[in-house]
Amino acid sequence: MSFREPVAPTLAPQAGRESNPNPSLRVSGETQRPAPRGSALNAAGGRAAARTGEGHRPFVVAIDGPAASGKGTLARRLAERFGLAHLDTGALYRATAVLVLEEAGDPADPATAEAAARRIEPLLLSDPRLRGDAVAEAASVVAAIPEVRRTLLAWQSDFARHPPAPARGAVLDGRDIGTVVCPAADVKLFVTATTEARALRRVKELREQGAEAIYENVLQDLKTRDARDSERRAAPLAVAPDAELIDTTTLDADAVFERAVRLIAGTLEEREWQQ
Ligand code: CDP
Repeated sequence: MSFREPVAPTLAPQAGRESNPNPSLRVSGETQRPAPRGSALNAAGGRAAARTGEGHRPFVVAIDGPAASGKGTLARRLAERFGLAHLDTGALYRATAVLVLEEAGDPADPATAEAAARRIEPLLLSDPRLRGDAVAEAASVVAAIPEVRRTLLAWQSDFARHPPAPARGAVLDGRDIGTVVCPAADVKLFVTATTEARALRRVKELREQGAEAIYENVLQDLKTRDARDSERRAAPLAVAPDAELIDTTTLDADAVFERAVRLIAGTLEEREWQQ
């Protein structure tokens, strides 16, 4: 499938939200430790941290792409390599969905979904319940609601502007990072693959987790979610004009990682020259 060129962002960060709304997301020098594997949050010290230096604006990598394109794994590996904090923004929408489903609410109801988005706690972002299929489906329903996106936008842009110490930058992955959340990101990647290749990967992933997975069902779920994510009015999945498009259909994870590493390292070098 093809993805639209972005429409003008319809959401703006909330005024007056200069600091991270969740102080517990900050990782102090003493208590800093990488978040658990698979967690939505991660912070580590490293090369980018050393280069960007105190007082400089954070170095931001924006990674977007459709479901099961491999952007999450790529984002985690890049954050680790360059010592950047990582935010899996899909986890915010999934957490909202979990809270709505938990109280048997309707994910399509704006008031219910917005109230849930406001109740997200950082711990929920690494909850295993986030990974279920029903949650993924409900996440894409709440994600189409502008009030939900506005609430979660403040969280995401604060994370990018104030990554948890000691990281001096951040990698955010999602659907609208390069277009809406971080339009001025230093590096923008759009990671994609054919729907069939992504469905095969998702099936493998589910089976490795011991879950039953039928290829045709997974393929259909991905198509439904891709269509909803690309066609919604509020911050649809779209390729930013200045994003590097990486088609992973015939590339393995290591090849994608190496290509992204080269791109980021080059941008870091350029930025160092300019300082
Ligand atoms: O892991 P997967 O790629 O399947 O999905 P995800 O990144 O966890 O995102 C779950 C859902 O949240 C997506 O289908 C989108 O509807 C929504 N989402 C979004 O709208 N904007 C983001 N920045 C991230 C996720």
